[in-house]
Amino acid sequence: MLYSDKVMDHFNNPRNVGVLENADGIGEVGNPVCGDVMKISIKVTDDKIDDIRFQTLGCGAAIATSSIVTEMARGMSLEGAVSITKRQVADELGGLPPAKMHCSVLATDGLKKAVDDYLVTHGREPIAVGTIAHDDPDFDPHAEEHDDACDVTEA
Ligand code: FES
Repeated sequence: MLYSDKVMDHFNNPRNVGVLENADGIGEVGNPVCGDVMKISIKVTDDKIDDIRFQTLGCGAAIATSSIVTEMARGMSLEGAVSITKRQVADELGGLPPAKMHCSVLATDGLKKAVDDYLVTHGREPIAVGTIAHDDPDFDPHAEEHDDACDVTEA
């Protein structure tokens, strides 16, 4: 089985779908290679993520990783939320095929952008700037895929 039961569960029943009205921060990111896009909106109280929603137009792994990242981030401090890694997202889902690891970067980057959007619009310094992979002109969403491509086949 290519995908874990948890990936399939979050793909078939994604949590926290939508856009928050009057969001405190919004993050949007697009994968330049596959064209998939995701948007995260957050509500913040006392520097913690109080509420969170996502919209993802993308592959099943992008939807599942977006869904799980909203569950992971809810209730977290802003610092904690921007520290979530693609590896933690994949682990939380019971693993992802190497060729799909880049999809989880969409989710973590969207969250980072939403946190920085909140901070900047409230006159504060961004904390994720410099760690957002999609803002790096040299970012290769498929780097991991190149590394592992020899023994990976996708259905
Ligand atoms: Fe584009 Fe998964 S193939 S994010």
